[in-house]
Amino acid sequence: MTQRTFPRSFVWGAATSSYQIEGGWNADGRGESIWDRFSHTPGKIEDGSTGDVACDHYHRWREDVALMQELGLQAYRFSIAWPRILPEGCGQVNQAGLDFYKRLVDALLEAGITPVVTLYHWDLPQTLEDAGGWPARSVAEIFVEYADLVSRELGDRVKHWITHNEPWVMAFLGYEKGSKAPGITDMAAALVASHHLLLAHGWAVPVLRQNSPGAEVGITVNLSPTDPASPSQYDADAARHFDGYMNRWFLDPLYGRGYPADMIADYQQDGYLPAEGMPFVQQGDLDVIATPTDFLGVNYYSRAVLRSDRVPEATNEPRTIPESDPAQQTDMGWEVYAPGLYNLLMRLHTDYQINKLYITENGASYSDGPNEKGVVRDMRRLHFLYDHFTAAHRAISAGVPLAGYFVWSLFDNFEWEQGYAQRFGIVWVDYTTQQRIPKESARWYSRVIASNAVSAELPTL
Ligand code: FCB
Repeated sequence: MTQRTFPRSFVWGAATSSYQIEGGWNADGRGESIWDRFSHTPGKIEDGSTGDVACDHYHRWREDVALMQELGLQAYRFSIAWPRILPEGCGQVNQAGLDFYKRLVDALLEAGITPVVTLYHWDLPQTLEDAGGWPARSVAEIFVEYADLVSRELGDRVKHWITHNEPWVMAFLGYEKGSKAPGITDMAAALVASHHLLLAHGWAVPVLRQNSPGAEVGITVNLSPTDPASPSQYDADAARHFDGYMNRWFLDPLYGRGYPADMIADYQQDGYLPAEGMPFVQQGDLDVIATPTDFLGVNYYSRAVLRSDRVPEATNEPRTIPESDPAQQTDMGWEVYAPGLYNLLMRLHTDYQINKLYITENGASYSDGPNEKGVVRDMRRLHFLYDHFTAAHRAISAGVPLAGYFVWSLFDNFEWEQGYAQRFGIVWVDYTTQQRIPKESARWYSRVIASNAVSAELPTL
């Protein structure tokens, strides 16, 4: 059978994040994070659950690393829980927390798995939220102290650093929509938060480089290609705005273009930014944010199709992109759209000339569980991954410098405000027994990794 082979140095991995898998929420001196506070607040999490125990990875990391090795993962992207290291956000260091990550990193290296560390995957120490959270510039300064500490301790062994995971989600779902911790609904504050997240990133880059010689340093953003639902000017404008809100607001300043002028104008018109623009952007900030990095991490799940709500439906042109078919959606209600990954990678390559890209997350939530034989035949996930790997291969063939791929997620885990209702794992987790069962998608993924290739035809089992 014909194979689509990936470049020799291509890296295959899987990703998780601290709050979603670790549990041990108050073990060994860990401080409180905004996600502890949020999930412990009644009504915030759909199934009433918390990350208190999650996959209990804090206690089961040894067997989890063994499983990664058995699957043949070449790299593992995980995040560090800031309040496990600095329970108060800064100051007093919790040695037990540092030791946990040191042991984990050592075990990974021993297993031949490259650790890829995300410093911040949304679990801000609650004390720092109490001090103003990301809308406070001081929190960005404190992030750099945290980055300095962690990279001094782990920088000899960890050579791949991601400053932030998805600053769009942190800023806008955390501070504008309030669907995620800290649950604030204030768009003006969210815009300030987005700037401070980017600033913290830019300040941390040279610190990480200094403490971790030879390391690759980057940031991970979540991006969605935006397609207008019809060729009307209204939908085109809705797509422009959404693209600016989600994609360009982060990409433009990271790649030296400053914040997009059309978005500043939109936000001024809506009253979220004052007439003078962005007074919280100080002299030199934009240079800091544009500090060159070694790679961009991209999280891709789906595209966005934009239909204007500024005019009545009858005034707009008929849709040419239909509403997505529920049969083509994952359990999150997200459209399965692999061409979007190709389009996105091509755009990053041509519009931003990015030197190196990793897919740091891509995957799908489907609830398929073990059958009577204990086998999880998650064919929809397997096909989802197959289609997206194939799209990535196409982009590489077209010249995109894509260097690796991290499936989201290694485990079923705590999916934020959706609790345990959504299962993204290639490994099934039974939350009562903590048993792990690699799903058929994981078995198939192992073969992809081993051959560094996907087949030209849709795989069957
Ligand atoms: C991304 C997050 C990750 C997970 C997936 C489904 O936005 O980075 O933690 O929740 O979505």
